Amino acid sequence: MSCMSRQKIILGITGGIAAYKTPELIRRLKDRGADVQVVLTRSAREFVTETTLQAVSGLPVRTNLWDKEAEAAMGHIELARWADLVLIAPATAEIMARLASGAAPDLLTTLCLATGAPIAIAPAMNHVMWSNPAVQENRQKLADRGFRILGPADGDQACGESGPGRMLEPDDIVKAVTAPIAVAEVGPAPLAGKNVMITAGPTIEPIDPVRFISNRSSGKMGYALAASARDAGASVILISGPANIPLPDGVDSISVESAREMFAAVHANIDDVDIFVGAAAVGDYHAADVKPEKIKKSHENLSITLVKNPDILSSVARLKDGPFTVGFAAETENLHEHAFGKLENKNLDMIVANLVGKGRGFDKDDNAVEVFWHEGERAFPLMNKKTLAGELVTLIAERYQVSLQTDTKTELPSIAVRD
Ligand code: CTP
Repeated sequence: MSCMSRQKIILGITGGIAAYKTPELIRRLKDRGADVQVVLTRSAREFVTETTLQAVSGLPVRTNLWDKEAEAAMGHIELARWADLVLIAPATAEIMARLASGAAPDLLTTLCLATGAPIAIAPAMNHVMWSNPAVQENRQKLADRGFRILGPADGDQACGESGPGRMLEPDDIVKAVTAPIAVAEVGPAPLAGKNVMITAGPTIEPIDPVRFISNRSSGKMGYALAASARDAGASVILISGPANIPLPDGVDSISVESAREMFAAVHANIDDVDIFVGAAAVGDYHAADVKPEKIKKSHENLSITLVKNPDILSSVARLKDGPFTVGFAAETENLHEHAFGKLENKNLDMIVANLVGKGRGFDKDDNAVEVFWHEGERAFPLMNKKTLAGELVTLIAERYQVSLQTDTKTELPSIAVRD
């Protein structure tokens, strides 16, 4: 039996049309060995029946905070303690507002306040509602408090319109909420005894004493990967450009500013590294001539000559007996083609690719990626970066193990730093 068999999930169902998919969701969770206790809100009962849910989950459905019989069997505080995870799917705008405000007028919201377990929500609503600033503000509040926000997906909606607001498919929800257990399934600590180096955040390239060139990277993905690699048992060294988020505990870190400083810090510490993950958004160029004094606006036009930075990822991938190397690719189009090109050209073992622009990717809490390696690929739907990091570390650990048995990497000439 897998480790998943011990996972106890409270599934909160709220009143959206996607509730019709929840019997399927329960079956999938149970297929993975989870115990599922359904909690139904009043409006959810308009969309799906207690009879169906009880039959599929095998447990009496809870609907009411004031149900004396159910409370006598397992009181709501006891139920809140019982759960390893509270999953709310579908999550309406209304439940998001209640959770964000901390109000607890019914059983589900009371459980959410009383539980110490992680809470994941799979929002589902009309796309205009989803983009409403009030809903987005609530989403942000919940994400900041550590709720996992799963989706929503983009596509056709029950109202006949199309856009972001569809509940993720049951399979994708199951994958997302079982991510931390997936790490456990590989073994208790799949990266125990391994040294993992991760680059993260943006780099900044000065132009004069007060100005610089940089990019929109927040560092969230790299920091989440560092925390997940640590949780998987690795000794982690995080080399980070200026990011405005707290460093994960239990991780060694080196702060840098420019791409060339990052290159130097990486190579000064690379010797015993088993796995290298280049999650930093490294600036491709630096100013040829950094002015010692502030540039004055005395000319109508101003040109700055830029010189290419060394490619850190590629330089690590070319090291003799170097680490298992994972790159990132942020693309605005032709994801598959560009990512595969970088996998080959940079001599990588694996590449994590995502589409950016139009509100996707940089400086967001959620991300959807496709991962490519020489023998395969895997897509991960839109999910919180922390959850995604757990999934990616599981996959990296699996592929790393395979690479130890079949080392297919070719050796290419090394790269030196240019000034
Ligand atoms: N990278 C790096 N050093 C650089 C540039 C990029 O280590 N000087 C790494 C990033 O950390 C990322 C990967 O290379 O893992 C992809 O970076 P990206 O900027 O998308 O690729 P480029 O090869 O620079 O191609 P382009 O900007 O033309 O898309």
